[in-house]
Amino acid sequence: MNKQVFIMDHPLIQHKLTFLRDKNTGSKEFRELVGEIAMLMCYEATRDLPLEETTIETPISKTKTKVIAGRKLAFVPILRAGLGMVDGVLRMVPAAKVGHIGLYRDHETLQPVEYYSKLPLDINEREVIVLDPMLATGGSGIDAVTIIKRSNPKSIRFMCIIAAPEGVKAFTAAHPDVELYCAAVDDHLNENGYIVPGLGDAGDRIFGTL
Ligand code: PRP
Ligand code: URA
Repeated sequence: MNKQVFIMDHPLIQHKLTFLRDKNTGSKEFRELVGEIAMLMCYEATRDLPLEETTIETPISKTKTKVIAGRKLAFVPILRAGLGMVDGVLRMVPAAKVGHIGLYRDHETLQPVEYYSKLPLDINEREVIVLDPMLATGGSGIDAVTIIKRSNPKSIRFMCIIAAPEGVKAFTAAHPDVELYCAAVDDHLNENGYIVPGLGDAGDRIFGTL
């Protein structure tokens, strides 16, 4: 696998992913699982954030200890399904700002259509993590990152729960500078652009619009 791609095979993530895929999992549990998986993935995807030393006083003595260095984060969910990951990642990094990119896949052409974009004003001072549970053809993720790059963030990472090999190939070719974090790379895309075995339509399952 390309060095730009990180598969998060932590047992807790893989266990939760099984229930996420199950067609008998209802919307409430599905939403909870998406949030929990996003939280665990965020923990792994921020593993290399630099630390700096600070001095504090415990009730017992003064001590030198560590805090995250000046780097600031922004999360950018791709609407709609990416919204399901926001609460989980904010639990890990509550001070992060949140931008939004609205894209949907035209069901006939499978091409992404942009309908909304609102990013933090200081995004050029931030490390960005883009959120979307699914990377299928890669079209939506590629376009979202292209839109975000226009605002010159310090760096961009892309976090999805399930990717198709076709999406990974297209995404890494279009944005070789963007690290891709996923919980699983599945088998293939079917003729309707759905990931096999996948989990179905993530947005519909999160919001109960099946
Ligand atoms: C889904 C998913 C991704 C996109 C992936 O969104 O959340 O954004 O499809 O497909 P791609 O890699 O082939 O572009 P969808 O268009 O169904 O919109 P929704 O989130 O509003 O349901
Ligand atoms: N979008 C989804 O929600 N699921 C897929 O399998 C492909 C695209």
